[in-house]
Amino acid sequence: MARILITSAIPYINGIKHLGNLVGSQLPADLFARYMRGRGHEVMFICATDEHGTPAELAAAKAGKPVEAYCAEMHEVQAEIARGFRLSFDHFGRSSSQRNHKLTQGFAAALDAAGLIEEVVEKQVFSIDDNRFLPDRYITGTCPNCGNTSARGDQCEECTKQLDPTDLINPRSSISGSTNLEVRETKHLYLRQRSLRDKLEAWIDSKKDWPILTTSIAKKWLNDGEGLQDRGITRDLHWGIPVQKGDQPWPGMEGKVFYVWFDAPIEYIAGTAEWADAHGLDDAAWQRWWRTDMGAEDVTYYQFMGKDNVPFHTLSFPATIIGSGQPWKLVDYLKSFNYLNYDGGQFSTSQGRGVFMDQALSILPSDYWRWWLLSHAPESADSEFTWENFQVSVNKDLADVLGNLVSRVTKFCVSKFGAEVPAGGAFGPQEAALIADLGARIATYAGLMEAMEVRKAAAELRAIWVIGNEYLQSSAPWTVVKTDPEQAQAMIRLALNLIRVYAILSRPFIPDAAAAMMAAMGSDDWTWPDDISAAMRALPAGQGFSVPENLFRKITDEERADWQSRFAGTRD
Ligand code: 2FM
Ligand code: ZN
Repeated sequence: MARILITSAIPYINGIKHLGNLVGSQLPADLFARYMRGRGHEVMFICATDEHGTPAELAAAKAGKPVEAYCAEMHEVQAEIARGFRLSFDHFGRSSSQRNHKLTQGFAAALDAAGLIEEVVEKQVFSIDDNRFLPDRYITGTCPNCGNTSARGDQCEECTKQLDPTDLINPRSSISGSTNLEVRETKHLYLRQRSLRDKLEAWIDSKKDWPILTTSIAKKWLNDGEGLQDRGITRDLHWGIPVQKGDQPWPGMEGKVFYVWFDAPIEYIAGTAEWADAHGLDDAAWQRWWRTDMGAEDVTYYQFMGKDNVPFHTLSFPATIIGSGQPWKLVDYLKSFNYLNYDGGQFSTSQGRGVFMDQALSILPSDYWRWWLLSHAPESADSEFTWENFQVSVNKDLADVLGNLVSRVTKFCVSKFGAEVPAGGAFGPQEAALIADLGARIATYAGLMEAMEVRKAAAELRAIWVIGNEYLQSSAPWTVVKTDPEQAQAMIRLALNLIRVYAILSRPFIPDAAAAMMAAMGSDDWTWPDDISAAMRALPAGQGFSVPENLFRKITDEERADWQSRFAGTRD
């Protein structure tokens, strides 16, 4: 039994995430966690809400709520939706937790002690009416290059020119519209990442099995242009983790907070500590996952995220960990995803374009979404959600292939032999051939799941469902029963066992349907079918079973058209 630590990129607190966010981190991480648990490994699966930063402050202000209350509420909203999608986190934490405050301040102290923190005085735009420094992208003005009157302080979206806020003509605050701005000096802490460049490169080079997408992004940031830059890890904001050196004040940094991207990944560790607290366990219980001096040397750590998060996880967070000089666990395998597009365009949170997690659950149960999203995961390239494709996948894979097999077999058995596993006959060559084929395919499936080849694993699982249908088609128990009822009983006994095995194999993808299939077979034995021949004989003759109601239903053309038009516009 191995020990497996899994983290999903932690979603921003402001707003409900769309399906593109879900398929890029939380959902594949859940698939992997469920699979690894199913194989009997000890798993720790952590996610959280990412609660700091200017967008969270502004969203709270827009909602007319104090930021603490807004975050507490939105955390609950996201936690409820995560339960709806059956995301099986061991803990869903909060980056604003006291655990994260302490750990983040501790990392800053360790980096300072290692000589890796530099204090830099810089000039920034201060909005007198908003009473705050404005991050570059919250300053709007006229582009000196193309005359666009709503260029942002970091870049003009019309002509794509990179800008400095002081380049803008007639600058104003994007928060209040105020033009009452001035440039003020302010002091910030910089992490001297440049001095860690060689260590980071050697570490990345040692990861021979990482996907190309991951290493190419990391290498680009290490080597492009001027290469890895030192980075500011503090901000002039009210909401965040106060800048302290451990539990001591940091002279000159009063009233400032750590930058959200400094504290967010530390929440992976803090979230595990929150898990221990929630279960009344001591520090050793979470440290054995994270501290190599406390037992974590035999942990394998997997991270899941969208490609935009890769630089922070291959460079910034490792720089924090390596630079601290403390024995924290570094990631072993980083699985990153491309983007999912929506019906000819992009999913967009700011524009409210696409299907959001709460909307998805309001029209169909989670298994339908999980299956489509995972079987179309944007791994080697971006992929696209279309309603037509969704309808076809659900109707064919789930309803016609899997659902139909389950309902046909159980209904046929009830009508001919009763609602108990029939005892007659014995497996012959056709059954032996199916069992051999299954054994080989399950081994392939397991290899793909272990390699986190999500789409290929889904395709193999579907192929495993298909061979069950083909067996029934060619063995035709409904015909055989007329001449040789004993043989038909053996065929159906095999098929009922197949349903239980399918429940086990399918559980990481479609946990609710898997539970319904297992319960219908009157079993709760989820042991992985390593010995497929034994697994196909596991249900004892005479055991009662039931016909599962509506495992999957088909999506009608009317529904598809209705959803297509309902989700064509943008959400407010
Ligand atoms: O891109 C995002 O949604 C970020 N909130 C991810 C943070 S992941 C990690 F750093 F915690
Ligand atoms: Zn411009």
